[in-house]
Amino acid sequence: MGGVVIGAAGRASAPRRGAFRRPLPIPVESTGQLDAAGIRHYRLATGYGTSELVEGLQTSTWGYNGAWLGPTLRVPRDQPVNIHVRNSLNRPTTTHWHGAQVAGRVDGGPHSVIRPDHSWEAAYTLTQPAATLWYHPHPHAYTGPQVYGGLAGMLWVDDGVDAQLKLPHTYGIDDIPVVLQDRRLGVDGQLAYMNAIGDLMGMKGDRFLVNGVEQPYLEAGAGWLRLRLLNASNARNYNIAFADGRRFHVIAGDAGLLSEPTPVTHLLLSSGERAEILVDLSQDRDQRVVLRSDSSTIIPSLYRMPSAVDGLDRHGFDLLELRVGPSLGLDTRLPDRLVDQPTLTANQPPRRFLLNGMVGSELWDRLRAGHGYSPRGNTGPGGMSAGVGDQKLFAINSRFMDMQTIDAHIALGSTEPWQVTNISLMAHPFHMHGTSFLIRSRNGQPPPAHERSWKDVVLVRGGETVELVARFAHPADKHYPFMYHCHILEHEDNGMMGQFVVG
Ligand code: C2O
Ligand code: CU
Ligand code: CU
Repeated sequence: MGGVVIGAAGRASAPRRGAFRRPLPIPVESTGQLDAAGIRHYRLATGYGTSELVEGLQTSTWGYNGAWLGPTLRVPRDQPVNIHVRNSLNRPTTTHWHGAQVAGRVDGGPHSVIRPDHSWEAAYTLTQPAATLWYHPHPHAYTGPQVYGGLAGMLWVDDGVDAQLKLPHTYGIDDIPVVLQDRRLGVDGQLAYMNAIGDLMGMKGDRFLVNGVEQPYLEAGAGWLRLRLLNASNARNYNIAFADGRRFHVIAGDAGLLSEPTPVTHLLLSSGERAEILVDLSQDRDQRVVLRSDSSTIIPSLYRMPSAVDGLDRHGFDLLELRVGPSLGLDTRLPDRLVDQPTLTANQPPRRFLLNGMVGSELWDRLRAGHGYSPRGNTGPGGMSAGVGDQKLFAINSRFMDMQTIDAHIALGSTEPWQVTNISLMAHPFHMHGTSFLIRSRNGQPPPAHERSWKDVVLVRGGETVELVARFAHPADKHYPFMYHCHILEHEDNGMMGQFVVG
């Protein structure tokens, strides 16, 4: 490495100084403050800052309670919490609790706008099992630029089951938050957003950050290490692997533990998805073990449009180096069994969703020739351009998101099968609010073992039909409806989203 990397469309990146030179930052852990009534209070504030995402470059960024990302909120199951959010940015935002089973009123979707210098409170009690959730802005048509600017954080639901099972559970020591993001920086060191035509397919960068630092290292003990992976990238898919090809164990999907650890060598993680993995470092003392995306084997196959695949998708890239020291002597293990999985029996007819990109090759050629692409202007940190053009490209059931239209009415307490069919040219991660789901089938076949836990994002490939089943136990009215959408944030902002009420 070294030298200046020049990419397409005037993009130029900072000199690369070599990977794994800086330690992995561990976000502050927030357990809230208990009041006399037994309610736990947490405080978040959006604001501006400067971050050294890439070594030697100062970048203007946004964060919660800091310059980039936000604290890891530790929320105990079955205890009432009140999360106070102050918006200190000069534009509206919202704060969505991704994966939290809460009512529409406190879900933080696009209708729950927090104006500049105003505050918002979300009071709820999570009754769902332990899970690695996260929070991020969700303002109508501007989720992409706000997340890209640095606004995101983790929210872990805790129920003590991990400790009982003797899974690693010491925060920042053997239980590590791993927020994966890619970014593009301009020659000026500032974040570049939507400044190349291909970005319409989803904004992908060429610098890989973990917890806000490019290719950092983590000092770990020789023993079991639990990594809580969150793909918080706007659009990029990762095929998680270790450079030496070693086996690791998936213990949890988006919203809960599996019934048993699933050994794999590769794990596909699309935007918005989480996975908890256990890796055995007991034989690696004084060694270095590299976590990477082994993209070439699978990522290009997710696109039937070659222009949406970049060199990094074709070749892969490094993410994080584990530097293994002596054993920490923690009494942890890989259990044979984790938790029992629920069964959900549908009591409603299937509801169908068609993911249809409007990008025929003709339209794509016109766009590439420079017609019909109009960025919305500068709204990001450091003057990065933001917003997806006015050209509507990505739809669900041939409809684009309309804040005034409710697309589905669901009875409170019902259990519905959702059939999601992708007839577009690329894979889309489908997400729904207000509940978690189980994957029943992919093209009629049972899902792979690592997808058999509670989930809230599922990657649906072109030509694939995925059947989900979900129980709708939390209400949402037309003032604060739930969303279903593609979690490629530029698709969501472009209109690949719909709204539903539960009541
Ligand atoms: Cu992670 Cu509707 O979002
Ligand atoms: Cu969500
Ligand atoms: Cu999409």
